Amino acid sequence: MRALWPQAHHGLDPWALYRPDDPDAPLLRLNMVAGVDGAATDRHGHTAELGGPGDWEVFRTLRAQADVVLVGAGTARREGYGPARLRRDLAARRRDDLGRARRPAIVLVSRSLALDPASPIFAEADPPTAVLTCAGASAQRRARLEPVATVLTAGGDHVDLVDGLARIRQVMGPMITCEGGPSLNASLLRAGVVDELCVTLAPQLVGVPSAPRLAGGLDEPAALSLRQVAIDDTGELYLRYRLAHREGAGDAHG
Ligand SMILES: NC(=O)c1ccc[n+]([C@@H]2O[C@H](COP(=O)([O-])OP(=O)(O)OC[C@H]3O[C@@H](n4cnc5c(N)ncnc54)[C@H](OP(=O)(O)O)[C@@H]3O)[C@@H](O)[C@H]2O)c1
Repeated sequence: MRALWPQAHHGLDPWALYRPDDPDAPLLRLNMVAGVDGAATDRHGHTAELGGPGDWEVFRTLRAQADVVLVGAGTARREGYGPARLRRDLAARRRDDLGRARRPAIVLVSRSLALDPASPIFAEADPPTAVLTCAGASAQRRARLEPVATVLTAGGDHVDLVDGLARIRQVMGPMITCEGGPSLNASLLRAGVVDELCVTLAPQLVGVPSAPRLAGGLDEPAALSLRQVAIDDTGELYLRYRLAHREGAGDAHG
């Protein structure tokens, strides 16, 4: 991988490329892959055929740098999410360097709580997977999840993401990597809580008109400020943006 902008740099380690300037500062990153036509899913409605090995490397790096991996329940169901497993070198040496716990916790966002308590994302998770929901969620489904997950409640009839993120940070730490999907991304952007957008631009046109975009349904455009551009030999571009309205907040000085 090599950086193209703002400075050209060959043989760059993704860890260095994405390392937060201040690991203790609150930071919420959205990490997504998309085709050049903006499609956020491949022709099968998954992401497997979109990202190459470089994207996988960035995905694992951003995961390994975070205290928390935030995921929409739709993505967890569609992509068959399991617990966050890290490559050994990223897990031990490098998480230590940032002062992180051994592994990040996964937090699923769900209003319906239509989640299987027996699935590996709960049964095999260490630390335990958490679920962020709201008071209006089904009491019966909540009761089924409580023995296997930390269930956090924020908001009445809808999940209050501002309050929810504050609760998550209090318990789990300041740095959150959100792995989508598009509906959750849009909610987070509308709530004004996203600091960074890390996008892998895959060198393909998916060509499925109904494929979702990175953020499905914003009330108004969100201005982005380009922070860095990197590339690898496969032609994947790695773009890192700062949300313009978050310039100057938290970890903004890299
Ligand atoms: N290109 C990429 O990098 C990437 C990344 C991730 C996903 N994807 C793709 O995106 C597709 C899934 O899209 P999606 O929009 O359905 O994903 P999503 O945002 O992960 O899932 C939507 C579901 O998550 C929960 N949710 C999201 N925002 C919420 C909020 N503000 N409050 C309460 N619950 C909330 C709800 O779950 P409940 O229904 O349980 O209430 C909602 O139905 C999949 O095909 C996946 O492959 C692509």
